[in-house]
Amino acid sequence: MDLHFGDSKPTDEEKAAVDALLGPPESSWEGAARDEMRAADLRWARGGREARERRDLLLPGLHAINDRIGWISEGALDYLCRRLTVPPAEAYGVATFYAMFSVKPRPATVLHVCTDLACAAAGASDLCAGIESRLGLGSGVGVQRSPCLGLCERAPAALAIKAGDPVRTAVAAPATVEAAVLAASAPDSAEEEPAAAMAVPQAGDPSLTLLSRVGVVDPSSLDDYRAHGGYTALRRAFQLGPAGVIREVTDSGLVGRGGAAFPTGRKWQATAAQPDHPHYLVCNADESEPGTFKDRVLMEGDPFSLVEAMTIAGYATGAHRGYLYLRGEYPRALARLENALAQCRARGLLGDDVLGQGYAFDIEIRRGAGAYICGEETALFNSIEGYRGEPRSKPPFPVEKGLFGKPTVENNVETLVNVLPILTMGAPAYAAIGTARSTGPKLFCVSGSVDRPGIYELPFGATLGDLLTLAGVRDRLRAVLLGGAAGGFVRPDELDIPLTFEGTREAGTTLGSGVVMAFDDTVPLPRLLLRIAEFFRDESCGQCVPCRVGTVRQEEALHRIAERTGAAAAGDIALLREVGRAMRDASICGLGQTAWNAVESAIDRLGAYE
Ligand SMILES: Cc1cc2nc3c(=O)[nH]c(=O)nc-3n(C[C@H](O)[C@H](O)[C@H](O)COP(=O)(O)O)c2cc1C
Ligand code: SF4
Ligand code: FES
Repeated sequence: MDLHFGDSKPTDEEKAAVDALLGPPESSWEGAARDEMRAADLRWARGGREARERRDLLLPGLHAINDRIGWISEGALDYLCRRLTVPPAEAYGVATFYAMFSVKPRPATVLHVCTDLACAAAGASDLCAGIESRLGLGSGVGVQRSPCLGLCERAPAALAIKAGDPVRTAVAAPATVEAAVLAASAPDSAEEEPAAAMAVPQAGDPSLTLLSRVGVVDPSSLDDYRAHGGYTALRRAFQLGPAGVIREVTDSGLVGRGGAAFPTGRKWQATAAQPDHPHYLVCNADESEPGTFKDRVLMEGDPFSLVEAMTIAGYATGAHRGYLYLRGEYPRALARLENALAQCRARGLLGDDVLGQGYAFDIEIRRGAGAYICGEETALFNSIEGYRGEPRSKPPFPVEKGLFGKPTVENNVETLVNVLPILTMGAPAYAAIGTARSTGPKLFCVSGSVDRPGIYELPFGATLGDLLTLAGVRDRLRAVLLGGAAGGFVRPDELDIPLTFEGTREAGTTLGSGVVMAFDDTVPLPRLLLRIAEFFRDESCGQCVPCRVGTVRQEEALHRIAERTGAAAAGDIALLREVGRAMRDASICGLGQTAWNAVESAIDRLGAYE
């Protein structure tokens, strides 16, 4: 791929996919036929500010081509670049950054088969082999081994995406070879997915706060949402005013649920106070940490609550535009959210005058395309802006210079949804839930060796044992992974660890995004560790040396000791420690800083190679 435009031409289908997004081309420079030329057409290209303002349509443009055709040809990329005035080499760099895109021809249907932790423990490798033997060359389906698909409660999982107009998708989970082959070859006749509430074993329990509506309301109906208390929080927000909302959120003690546990009220206040405008709100719904699926269940089961919560966050922080960055592998959440946004717009709950209060706010969904790193807050900004999803150095922090260089508040889905009960029950009542330093309810994603996997809501302070008992932990527990691949393992004799930020910290581990994955003693630990190392090597954006090189060295060392213990493993374990320290101390972002956590905990806590 060159910096310059080549001679490749888009097919009519590729052109139609791009034009459906951007509208018809305005000049022959942009690819209009000569006989369509306007009087003003003198082969001009958009330049300067006008071109920069369209750069953020690059990722949606790549999606448009990939959705329609199944891959992105040089002609299609060239055409998109002309339309957006983006150098082809840069667009190529972006297209190749994402696992869901291909710049090489491939079948129109891609079947993503998860081989990550929960699925591996549930037999993903046999499943994959079975599927690959049925869907070989000539089957019209490309089989792609995939990191966690966010369906861990139904492991092993597979997701079929069939390109076309419209693109079609089907999920098989728990997947058998038969079900996955059917999903891929005939997505329209695949079995319908179970309701989101099936992922909530506590559904309908009156003690629930965050999950109270999942399985109770019709997720496609705004009226039903309102009949179940929807939009009372936004009305209260308008009564309180922006400063009053921030005060409530601050007093509630809410901290971020995306993994970093930063106080939400402080973040909102810092954004609201910035003199530069516009301010933006970004909801991080990228949810790619292996083992995490809580945000998906919230978005599928109660989508209007996220729209309401984003509106409140925008109002409090002075933003009039919100972006919802949604994981590309979540087609059902996408459909539910698109429907929710359309209904809210039609009923004056989004738009120029929300609830007749003179406040303008709208939300745009941006789809990710298969890159874990885009969940890092600044990588996500770059992704929306049409650049490679590489994290930025901080400072400046997002509250000062975030999306498009403007003050931005970015929050996780679960964090935002917590704002609704804070406003409806009041900060003191909310702060009384949980412990003094970890307030409120918390969602946990339980999977692996339990009888009732799914999302659980408990007040902070319940112990790991309480949670696992609720989920029906099976016998012969060998280890529990807390916080996902970026988290750490604990032993079966440590189940009294309180599930709070301070409790897990004191125990030398982490809550992370709320992953609790149980493994029995039939799961080979070295294989799990290899899978984690492979994940980080694959997902490293490659921007900084400690992480780019360290994740490779880590995986190599784990390969060498996969079958070794004791003295035979000692040299490589010493090397792993050295590499791990370098990654932790010198990486730019959280990916490299945490890439050694789980391996270290398995060595030190579980005695993995003794
Ligand atoms: C590699 C990496 C991946 C991340 N992925 C996510 C994610 O998928 N969802 C999320 O909410 N936060 C994710 N985060 C954390 C975000 O950077 C950020 O802290 C969070 O979105 C802030 O929202 P909160 O304050 O509401 O938690 C990730 C961080 C790193 C370093
Ligand atoms: S730590 Fe890894 S993922 Fe983060 S910026 Fe560096 S190379 Fe990229
Ligand atoms: S869906 Fe397979 S590990 Fe999450």
